[in-house]
Formats: sequence, structure tokens, C-alpha cells
Amino acid sequence: MKGIILHGGHGTRLRPLTHTGPKQLLPIANKPMSEYCLESLRNAGITDIAVIIGGIGSNKVQEYYGDGKDFGVKLSYITQDFPKGIAHAVRLCKDFVGKEKFVVFLGDNIIQKDINEYVNDFVNSNDAASILLCEVDNPSQFGIAEIKNEKIIKLIEKPKNPKTNLAVTGIYFLTPIIFDLIDNLEPSWRNEFEIVDALQMLLDINKKIRYYMITDFWKDTGTPEDILQANKIILENMKSCSFGTNDDTVVIEGNVVIGEGTIIKNGSKIIGPVIIGKNCIVSDNSYIGPNTSVGDNTHLSYCTVKNSIIMSDCIIDCNIKIKNSIISSNSKISKIESNNEEKVFLLGEGTKINL
Ligand code: DAU
Repeated sequence: MKGIILHGGHGTRLRPLTHTGPKQLLPIANKPMSEYCLESLRNAGITDIAVIIGGIGSNKVQEYYGDGKDFGVKLSYITQDFPKGIAHAVRLCKDFVGKEKFVVFLGDNIIQKDINEYVNDFVNSNDAASILLCEVDNPSQFGIAEIKNEKIIKLIEKPKNPKTNLAVTGIYFLTPIIFDLIDNLEPSWRNEFEIVDALQMLLDINKKIRYYMITDFWKDTGTPEDILQANKIILENMKSCSFGTNDDTVVIEGNVVIGEGTIIKNGSKIIGPVIIGKNCIVSDNSYIGPNTSVGDNTHLSYCTVKNSIIMSDCIIDCNIKIKNSIISSNSKISKIESNNEEKVFLLGEGTKINL
């Protein structure tokens, strides 16, 4: 079986975080979100994987993953000239897939449970496709499934008046029959070739689409709030370990991971779940956590940071309280007048704040 990871698109809903690179490389617990997709595929034994790239900073995807060897997989890159839809991206992989069954993973979807069972069932079935459904609170934002007598009877993309709350998640188990159907697709109201419409065509020709309900954590990380929630859940499931150093004045509580070369000192407190990358300095009564990720080479002093993602190579060196924030690499916050009000930031790469 082969795998496809969708790493294209414009990431408009996540600007300014996506002004300098694809959203799927934004870190969750210090790892690009698409790496979780790659790991899900690899752990299910799928190692021949095509990555669809396109849009701003798509070269960064190749720089990070290379040929895939370091990640235990073999990667091919396929460029999509414009994000014309998930079905369009899948169609670009026809030659790569050949006659095999395959799994498509949207690079911004994170699932906690491994997909091995679904892969095995699919390999041993005659099903034309298989999908994972998850109950959501905002069904008009997703592809939605209607079910009767435990069979999928209808699939519809982002309905205005959804009849169910069963979202089609971004993990699709497909067979090459889908390519011919995609060739007959018309663009949707949002001018995209929708994979859900191609799946509906399968139903229209009486092919069976198997489904499973996901009851564990699944997230489409479309908004900053989604990213912070995914960050929290992944941190909660990490095992504590420390390769750093700290002095006697430091308090470390809960589930905390600290990278090599990192120094925590001078009365700082880390309250898990928290991950701090390599070669960071946390000093001068800083208070970090809970639910916070700090990337490599970042220096934090005098500050409080909770429920946030601070990426690599950042400096925050003032008495400021930060919550629910995402701060991209190479940003600096300094000399902010101290008051007790908590601040929320959404900062693109290289932002400097000096008040
Ligand atoms: O997350 C699940 C939902 O994903 C499904 O319920 C919907 O049926 C499905 O259409 C999709 O909806 P979104 O509106 O969230 O899709 P989005 O535009 O965010 O694209 C999903 C991923 O695919 C994202 O990682 C970007 C990538 N992509 C998207 C398009 C349109 C591409 O690589 N190429 C594209 O042309």
C-alpha cells in the first residue's frame, strides 16, 4: 500500500503564522504537524509516500524531510501548481499509486490512535474506499456523512444545513478507481475539486464505503485555537524526561520534557505539561506552563507563558504574562511595561516587539 500526504494549500486561515511557510510545518509539541501524519503511515507499515507540495515556502518541506530516510520512509515530492482541491492533489498521484490501494492523509490532520487496524481491514477487503468519521460541534465546516442502517448513504462537503454531525476526517483509504471519478468532477461552490464529491460518486455507482467512528482525539488544525488544543493533548500524552540542567532554586512539576543543553535557572518554575527544546535558557523567575511548547535555542527571562507555543530562536526578556499565544521563530519581545494583564499574541516569523 502507498501513502500520500497533502502538504500544499495557502494556509490563509493561519496568517500571519503562514506568511513564510506551509501550515503543516507549524510545530505541535516541537514537531511539525505533518510529521505526525508521516509517523501514522510509517507505523502502519506504509513507507512509500508521496508528498504534495505547493505554495509559500514549499522548499522548506523538502529541506526538512529530505528523501525520508531519516524518518524511516521513502518520500517522493509532487508539486501542485495551485490548490485546486484535495481531489485535484490526489489525481496528481495517479502514476505514483499505480494499481495499489493507498491512504491519503491531510497534512494538517492529527489523530491520536494509530491507523494500523483500518489499514489491515482495508487491505483485506473489497471495499472501494474507507473513511474515518468523528462527531463535531461545527458540522458545516467539514465534509459530512449521512448514515442509514449502518451504511453511508450520502457525503456532502460543508453543508449549510447539515443533517448529521459526523465529519469526514482527512484520512482516506482509497483504490485507483477514484482517479477516473475525479476526472469527471466539477468544481464545487468554493471552486475546488472535492474529494467528498468523488466519494459520493462511488456511492452513486453502488460501491461500498466502509466507515469507522473515531472516538479518541482527532483534530483538523485549521485555526490557532485548534493548534493550541492539539498541542495540549499531545503534551499531556508525553513522558517526562530531561537532558538539561537546572539549579536548586528551580521548581519543575508535572509532565515536563527538557532538551539537551537547556538551562533552567534563577527561581524559574516549569509546570507541566511542557516541552522545552534544545539549548534554551529559562531564567530570572520565569513561569512556564501548563500546556506550553518552547522550541530550540529560545531564551525566556522574567516572563510568564501559559497555554502557548513559542517556536525556536525566540527571545522574551521582559516581565510579561503571555497566554493562548503562538509566537513564530526568531521573534523578540522586550521592554514591555509590566502590568498584570495577560497578553495574547499571534506572531509571524521574525516579529520584534519593543514598547
Ligand atoms: O479536516 C477534514 C476536512 O478537510 C474534511 O472534513 C473536508 O471534507 C475536506 O474538504 C477538508 O476540508 P478543509 O476545508 O479543512 O480543507 P483544507 O483546504 O484546509 O485542506 C486540507 C489539507 O489539504 C491542508 O493540509 C492543505 C492541503 N491541500 C488543500 C488543497 C485545497 C492541498 O495540499 N492542496 C489543495 O489543493
